[in-house]
Amino acid sequence: MPEFLTDIKRTHDCGALRGTDAGATVVLFGWVASRRDHGGCVFIDLRDRGGITQVVFEPHTSAPAHALSSELRSEFCIGLRGLVHDRGERRNPNLPTGEIEVHCTELTIFSRSDTPPFEIADDANANESIRLKHRALDLRRPSLQKNFVLRSQIYQTARRVLTAHKFLEIETPFLVKYTPGGARNFLVPSRLSPGQFYALAESPQLFKQLFMVAGFDRYFQIVRCFRDEDLRQDRQPEFTQIDAEMSFVVEEDVQNVFEALMSALWKDILGIELQTPFQRLSYAEAMDSYGSDKPDLRFGLPLCDVTEIVRKHDGGNVEMLRPVISGKAAGGEAPVVKGWRLPAAEAAKMSNAEIDKLEEFVKGLGARGLARARIGAGGAWTRSPMKTMSEALRADLNATAGLQEGDVFFLQFGARKLVYSVLGALRLHVANKLGIIHAGQWKFCWVNEFPLFERTDDGKFAAAHHPFTCPFAEDLERLESDPGSVRARAYDLVLNGNEIAGGSIRIHEGDVQSRVFRAMGFTDEDAQAKFGFLLEAFRHGPPPHGGIAAGLDRLAMLLCNADSLRDVIAFPKTQKGTDLCTDAPSSVATKQLDELHIALVGVEAK
Ligand code: AMO
Repeated sequence: MPEFLTDIKRTHDCGALRGTDAGATVVLFGWVASRRDHGGCVFIDLRDRGGITQVVFEPHTSAPAHALSSELRSEFCIGLRGLVHDRGERRNPNLPTGEIEVHCTELTIFSRSDTPPFEIADDANANESIRLKHRALDLRRPSLQKNFVLRSQIYQTARRVLTAHKFLEIETPFLVKYTPGGARNFLVPSRLSPGQFYALAESPQLFKQLFMVAGFDRYFQIVRCFRDEDLRQDRQPEFTQIDAEMSFVVEEDVQNVFEALMSALWKDILGIELQTPFQRLSYAEAMDSYGSDKPDLRFGLPLCDVTEIVRKHDGGNVEMLRPVISGKAAGGEAPVVKGWRLPAAEAAKMSNAEIDKLEEFVKGLGARGLARARIGAGGAWTRSPMKTMSEALRADLNATAGLQEGDVFFLQFGARKLVYSVLGALRLHVANKLGIIHAGQWKFCWVNEFPLFERTDDGKFAAAHHPFTCPFAEDLERLESDPGSVRARAYDLVLNGNEIAGGSIRIHEGDVQSRVFRAMGFTDEDAQAKFGFLLEAFRHGPPPHGGIAAGLDRLAMLLCNADSLRDVIAFPKTQKGTDLCTDAPSSVATKQLDELHIALVGVEAK
């Protein structure tokens, strides 16, 4: 007797057969997606990663197979041989294999299944934590299978494109020295060096720079990174980067390679030709126009700055604008006034109640309120809380913002950071509400010229990126006197409002590096203690170099049109950083902790 697996091999996957295969004898392996008993004959949908095929068991085709088919239940894993029949008038146009069905001549049950905890179907409404707990079953769902097929293609394309551009694929360690700055690290205790810890690499940043010193010239890696951050829909504690570094380059060279990579991904995976070069914006332009360093350019509706106008009119008799003229905002910065115009055609779709409700939305973002007006005939401001506003200021604002009858105008004033984030988020919120953003648009842009330093809430300066990011040469003279105005040769690649890659040209000159360290508040000794290994290597002819890393999970999420990273990561963590499938993190035995010379304080060891 020929046996399944040894003698009878799979001939097709469950998505392969078409009308032209009618008459062929085929062997399919897979899972029972559904079973229907139509008195006398049994129908099943057989599922594997290729798709679904209808299989029929009839007594006259094979009495033993028909008899055994009565035992089949959902998620049994089976193998079968049969004859492909054209379904004729019973064709199912909704299924790629809908032209045919397989009439089974031999059936084997490889394994049986308990009743699954949820129905394995895309439209099944199972709670996400149950799905994550039974992730292997969840991953059987066709939509998730599709996501992982697509994700796998990203690796193939990335390797092909970068290899063609002469990049070498080289690995870097995960267990690394803890270095401050950047994201919070996970720590790993060392058994062999009691009391000492490794960090899990948050990125290969310093190693890839050492590769440039080593003369590897062009490096890439598809690499796992670990960051102990607060999690969001677009953040996971372990995630994957397509990481690259290049010697003898300026910004444009790095960006060109990643434009080629993005073009190849969109072509290979979605069949879409992207327009290159991508749009380029400076950080200042992005913030001024969209209130965000990751602007969603699928729609316009930019913000406008009216600080000078409000100043010119001395606040225009509006009490709440007074601090703008005289005061200082948080961090000692001058306050700003920004406006956002919603044109009449869009504004007409929002009732006054809906507009009023936006105030709650911005309060949730930390704003004190939302000054607004609906523009009436002759440029009058209606439904505005700023009733005392002088005619002159109103006229000037109308002219500057280009306000027309029917428009709604929003105003926000105060500290720059808050004003930008509130109006930037409002712009997105309203666009989503109004359905202005259409699916299927791909708006890439490079955001360049980030600030080298970020002002913290207490008014101090901290490195905005890592401390090896190169400042603009023409800004160097202000490094000490006005650090906030120094631009970095750093760039992000943004797609539809998502940051999908980030990188920079690095410092390769020792004296510039020392000055940047000092401006960040590191003494030479601090720098030596923290980054000594890199600085040492840099004493021996480091080449000018720069690089970039793309978030592979985010790319996969966008390419799959998924809502969450969890739909493109096989075993993702929840918001609380737990893996519901394996139940990590978990407690360990006291003996294990003793070996590591670790004592728990304030929590019970189990
Ligand atoms: P950066 O920190 O900007 O740069 O990271 C690069 C890209 O990785 C993605 N990303 C994440 N994806 C999922 N979950 C996270 N927690 C997460 N954090 C980041 C983003 C981001 O654009 N070493 C530098 C790169 C360089 O300068 O070459 C770096 O890691 O898409």
